[in-house]
Amino acid sequence: MLKIPISCSHASYDVLVGGGLLTHSGDLVAKILAPSRCAVVTDSNVARHYLQPVLASLKNVGFKPITLVVPSGERSKSFRQVYNLCHSMVVAGLDRKSVLFSLGGGVIGDLSGFAAAIFQRGIPLVQLPTTVTAQVDSSVGGKTGVNVAAGKNLIGAFHQPQLVIADPLTLNTLPNREYWEGFAEIVKHAIIQDMAMLKTLSPERPKDLSALIARNITVKSALIASDEGDKSGLRALLNFGHTIGHGIETAAGYGSLFHGEAISLGIIAALWLSKRFSGLLQSDLEYIARILQRLSLPIVLPDRILTDSVLTTMRKDKKFEQGKPRFVLTHRLGSAYLSDEVDLQDARSAIEFLRKLQPN
Ligand SMILES: NC(=O)c1ccc[n+]([C@@H]2O[C@H](COP(=O)([O-])OP(=O)(O)OC[C@H]3O[C@@H](n4cnc5c(N)ncnc54)[C@H](O)[C@@H]3O)[C@@H](O)[C@H]2O)c1
Ligand SMILES: [Zn+2]
Repeated sequence: MLKIPISCSHASYDVLVGGGLLTHSGDLVAKILAPSRCAVVTDSNVARHYLQPVLASLKNVGFKPITLVVPSGERSKSFRQVYNLCHSMVVAGLDRKSVLFSLGGGVIGDLSGFAAAIFQRGIPLVQLPTTVTAQVDSSVGGKTGVNVAAGKNLIGAFHQPQLVIADPLTLNTLPNREYWEGFAEIVKHAIIQDMAMLKTLSPERPKDLSALIARNITVKSALIASDEGDKSGLRALLNFGHTIGHGIETAAGYGSLFHGEAISLGIIAALWLSKRFSGLLQSDLEYIARILQRLSLPIVLPDRILTDSVLTTMRKDKKFEQGKPRFVLTHRLGSAYLSDEVDLQDARSAIEFLRKLQPN
């Protein structure tokens, strides 16, 4: 088992990574939280595979769980589902000492993490991530929230988990598309801080992702440790590829392009802007494009997604400050910085570039 300690100004907790850990989640949680009534929130796909072992493990150490299953998919990251979760927890008699377990991908983590943040003004949260995206990224850092029609993650709260248990064996049941989308965040972490990581990736599904997951959590934790509330700009580097990426995801319609797929396109757009503004080499852009493609991620924007729709949704993004976009750019792969020199016309050109790149 690998243990990565996370510490930020208001919280410290461990991320535990290891094959088979999910079936021991009760024991691991009981070391830090007294057994209590609790809610296990999951989605319909994940419930089929992993709900029973988690419930058994929790009951074994004295937790008294209720189960809340939401439909799978990005559309569940909604106010309605937050309301449903909170309502069910009230009806079931959960209180301030109850614990919420998020069992699933980034959708379940963000949605139920937000419910944990506001239920009785905040109850303990344990993340049990089951997708690549959730294990390398979304389960750590405390960002929770939901989407509204105007844009992604516009409503939310910071709520750090008490513990994260990432069991890479759960990734074996992910369909290919859902598996590879998670690698967009890995490529993002590489570009902003750890290029050597890209050498460890292969186009085949590896047997054991534990080391890669731990390495990604380490990159993320270093950035959030100093900047928990998103104030200094360091944490914002994690938004590399996300300004245009979120615009594409929303413009495509939630669920049409997966989050990671939209971010793959957003990464190419950010590299193109980096070439224009920061002297990034064309060969670096092409290198990353080849890697994304080898990982089954898209690098060409489908015609049905209109540039104007992407720009319109982008303008409502949190990364716009007083009408100006904040972009993360890179002078040199392996490092990144926050820029305010990109305007909407440049963003338009970057989106148009995504229609021209030739896959090979
Ligand atoms: N909070 C953050 O810091 C942060 C960071 C990155 C991404 N996100 C958010 O995460 C979301 C995307 O998360 P995601 O990519 O994990 O998608 P997801 O949660 O929708 O999961 C993808 C699909 O895989 C299924 N699934 C999950 N685990 C499975 C398993 N082990 N076996 C079989 N099927 C399984 C789910 O039911 C779903 O259909 C987006 O909403 C994004 O905004 C948040
Ligand atoms: Zn993301």
